[in-house]
Amino acid sequence: MTAIPFLYSMPTRIIHGPGSLGRLGEEAGLLGLRRVLLVSDPGVRKAGLVERAQEPLQKAGIAASLFTEVEENPCMATVRRGYDLLRAERLEGVIVIGGGSAMCAAKAIALLGSNGGEISDYEGVGKFALAPLPVIAIPTTAGSGSEVSQSFILTNEVRNDKFTVSGPTNFPSMAILDAELLMSVPPRVAVFAGLDALSHAVEALWAKGATPITEALALAAIRSIFANLRRASFSPDLAAKDAMIVASSMANMACGNSGLAIVHAIGRFIESRYHYPHGQVNGVLLPIGMDFNRPVCARQFSAMARGLSTRAGDGAETEERLADRAAGLVRDLMRANDFALTFDLRPPAAELRQMAEATERYPMTARNARAVTAADAEAMLRAAFGM
Ligand SMILES: [Fe+2]
Repeated sequence: MTAIPFLYSMPTRIIHGPGSLGRLGEEAGLLGLRRVLLVSDPGVRKAGLVERAQEPLQKAGIAASLFTEVEENPCMATVRRGYDLLRAERLEGVIVIGGGSAMCAAKAIALLGSNGGEISDYEGVGKFALAPLPVIAIPTTAGSGSEVSQSFILTNEVRNDKFTVSGPTNFPSMAILDAELLMSVPPRVAVFAGLDALSHAVEALWAKGATPITEALALAAIRSIFANLRRASFSPDLAAKDAMIVASSMANMACGNSGLAIVHAIGRFIESRYHYPHGQVNGVLLPIGMDFNRPVCARQFSAMARGLSTRAGDGAETEERLADRAAGLVRDLMRANDFALTFDLRPPAAELRQMAEATERYPMTARNARAVTAADAEAMLRAAFGM
């Protein structure tokens, strides 16, 4: 990292703290919202969190129309239904309470709210003319960081593939980080989400767009995830959950500006084909990607290992020796959280080769610090499937 000029942008207003959901009404009022679409998914609604979001809105006299049918990996038809409701009721903005899937759908609905058309028209970066309607994002898992991201990912059910829409005006207007909303997340879901956040932070260390700002955010997020993932996932410890929800936002504030690289690139093809959860896919791929990138990441990995160190004498270790330790620390963290380091499937060799070739061509792959050939990607895929 040198004095290469860069741009850093993250304009989302963050309201943080246990109980901060209670401020939703006044914060929505600051945006001038009187009639909103409240987006969520059936699980979050069943957990009673949609009702908890409605209370402060009612108190502030803000009318909310409910759209709580967002599925995991939301498709274009779901976005269309949400948009139809928004348009029919002439709503002014979108509030979303949920995980990464609900947040992606909500951001897509807000984009259509000002631009119209079909959501697939806007695939890519900056393909839309008008800023989306205001979005207030309230995450109920600590993982995607979508609440502070200018991107969203949808499933194109016609192509059976995922696509990304991104643009500098696509950030939510506000994010409310209230760890009390994480209380009912099952441990396995919390671990997957936390490892997605960890993969965002580590990818931010090696993506070609890394800057001093993204690296600082990433290293701080990594330290916090290591310190809090287990307690946050397996116990009702509010302080640990609070640390995780802040760390997941910080991880996305890093990768949202540095870009993502090989882990998310390969992961995209595994997710589309075998439908493993996003966090599980990136978790499995993360230490494998670290092994691959180790030759070009001594400085970043040694900083990471030093930040995680609890051993006396590490201060005297060479950069190379510290860097060698980083991937092992990630594997230790995963084992401590009952996370399987490989997938249970054993795909045919031809499928691995197809995915490897697609990875080599995928633009995100070119953002990786070390050049990735199809043969490299195939070796990483084999490792991920335990082959
Ligand atoms: Fe991710």
